[in-house]
Amino acid sequence: MKYVIGNWKMFPKTIQEGVSILDAIRKVAKKAATQNVEVVMCPPMPFLSALGEKYASAVHFGVQDVSFYKEEARTGSVSVAHVRSAAASYVILGHSEMRAQGESDFDIARKIQAAVKGGLRVVLCVGERVRDADGACFLEVEKQLRECLIDFPVTKTGQLRIAYEPVWAVGKDAVAAAAPREFNEMSMLIRRVLAEHFGKTRAFRIPILYGGSVDAKNVETYMHIADGVLVGRKSLVPKDFTAFMLCAMECAHK
Ligand code: PGA
Repeated sequence: MKYVIGNWKMFPKTIQEGVSILDAIRKVAKKAATQNVEVVMCPPMPFLSALGEKYASAVHFGVQDVSFYKEEARTGSVSVAHVRSAAASYVILGHSEMRAQGESDFDIARKIQAAVKGGLRVVLCVGERVRDADGACFLEVEKQLRECLIDFPVTKTGQLRIAYEPVWAVGKDAVAAAAPREFNEMSMLIRRVLAEHFGKTRAFRIPILYGGSVDAKNVETYMHIADGVLVGRKSLVPKDFTAFMLCAMECAHK
């Protein structure tokens, strides 16, 4: 199975623009679903219902955050049950842009627990801020994994996907995408930590995706060495996102 997951962040401006993007990718997304490729789109939350109703047969939907509280008096919060009822089956958690706003590993762990309990599939983002020569980056990612996955129910690892997203490779200020070697090194560390946490058999089934400046040029490399890609900017560009899905289909067959 290969994954192509789009994170729209705060874009586009209107539901209508979202409709146009999904209209343009719908046909290939439907085909991908039959070819062992899971396509997931994570639009802004207020778009979820409208888009979900129209395109649920083509893509899976996800959200970019969720509260760890159940329905209670928490102004502004959105619960797992709410997003489930509005067509989402995925949630992206631990994204560096959320961490930059003050979200801690402890908060992320609580959100993960609530999400998994409520039946959502979790894409947990981990990644170092700086790729240093001394290897502190490995300790940083190991700590994120251990703290975010604390109390994760061992029997629910089927609901977990990890996205390795080095912070320096994410978004428009990115230095560059990670080099394949950098992904491979970190992916080995992630696999080891997962194995210690969940046992080897379960750990080897958890998909590890790459995210950060994925584009039409580098997607093939990443689709081969990773279980798929988490895409920001280019998930809003139908031509590019379609190319990613086609690439995933090709790799899923090999
Ligand atoms: P980018 O973002 O593809 O625009 O670098 C990736 C992400 O934030 O998941």
